[in-house]
Amino acid sequence: MRLLVCGGAGFIGSNFVRVRVRDFGDELVVLDKLTYAGRRENLQDVAHEFVHGSIEDAQVVAAAMDGADAVVNFAAETHVDRSIAEPDAFVTTHALGTYVLLEAARAQQVRYVQVSTDEVYGSIAQGSFTESSPLDPSSPYSATKAGADLLVGSYHHTFGLQTLICRGSNNYGPYQYPEKLIPLMILNALHGDRLPVYGDGMNVRNWLFVEDFARGIGHVLEHGAPGEVYNVGGPDESTNIEVVRAIIDAVGADEDLIEFVTDRPGHDRRYSLGSEKVRALGWEAQMRFHDGLRSTVDWYRDNAWWWEPIRSGDYRAYYERQYGRALG
Ligand code: NAD
Ligand code: DAU
Repeated sequence: MRLLVCGGAGFIGSNFVRVRVRDFGDELVVLDKLTYAGRRENLQDVAHEFVHGSIEDAQVVAAAMDGADAVVNFAAETHVDRSIAEPDAFVTTHALGTYVLLEAARAQQVRYVQVSTDEVYGSIAQGSFTESSPLDPSSPYSATKAGADLLVGSYHHTFGLQTLICRGSNNYGPYQYPEKLIPLMILNALHGDRLPVYGDGMNVRNWLFVEDFARGIGHVLEHGAPGEVYNVGGPDESTNIEVVRAIIDAVGADEDLIEFVTDRPGHDRRYSLGSEKVRALGWEAQMRFHDGLRSTVDWYRDNAWWWEPIRSGDYRAYYERQYGRALG
């Protein structure tokens, strides 16, 4: 299959590209704007064609999509804290960018997969969300992702475009930018920096190893029914403080590094996805959280070449703005 992968230089997109080339022999074209989160290094070990451009650019998108059997859209602004501080790019990329991609897919009659998130359902105290749960997003990030999902659905309903939506739970694994909980805590613990836990640390996330999500998206692309939404949730839930303690244990750092800091505004308490529908298609998560977290800690410990340029660049200024303290 020839796939156009938008946002393929980011965390999940680059893992998806690696899985599809390695395990399925697909031909890959990656279109990516290379924001702070998109890096050519993420794809340096995998064969692909690269187009530097944004999904809002109709000309670039049309040319990149030419000859593709399907398009998979990962391109997004993805950090909730950044969406609270500066929402602009979230609106542009998720609303306008998704629209431009859908128009190109419609013109060229290309199957379209939108990579979405459990955050569009909002927070759930007990039980798990199904695909028919109402959308109730909390942050500018999740609200603009929900808007994009609705637009995708409308292109199936109105124009008959073959669309699929995959809503994933919290991913972790190699190549994740260290603004997100797990890589941030691993790198801080390795450096003896403070470990900033928001609020009481009792928020719950449903953890999914990135290669499991990548396989799930590929599975939906190949076996899903057009017009449908598929939840792809991880096998384990954990509070943030449990995650941080497990990282401290794996790194061999000191518990005293934990610092409870001011909570995120509008912080969702718990996410939980029911994934029966994608399981019925034949997908299963293969990695349990305990094992995946250990292997992720090992990956960061062994791949300083990947994170050293990040920790010494603009990220330092971001970190100081976000946490009101410098990195050590
Ligand atoms: P990421 O921030 O690591 O990567 C995003 C990529 O998109 C980067 O390569 C960036 O350069 C690119 N990009 C951003 N704006 C663009 C634009 N306008 N045009 C072209 N490229 C652009 O994100 P990620 O964690 O890999 O997430 C990928 C997708 O998966 C997103 O749609 C996100 O909403 C979704 N998702 C993420 C998670 C998670 O836990 N990380 C869970 C479920 C769903
Ligand atoms: O659920 C899927 C979503 O998961 C994706 O759609 C998003 O793109 C992705 O960023 C992620 O969102 P979260 O807000 O859940 O992830 P984050 O890693 O930012 O935070 C995870 C939890 O950890 C959350 O409860 C906030 C908390 N946290 C986060 C950071 C960065 C801390 O306590 N301290 C921190 O420094």
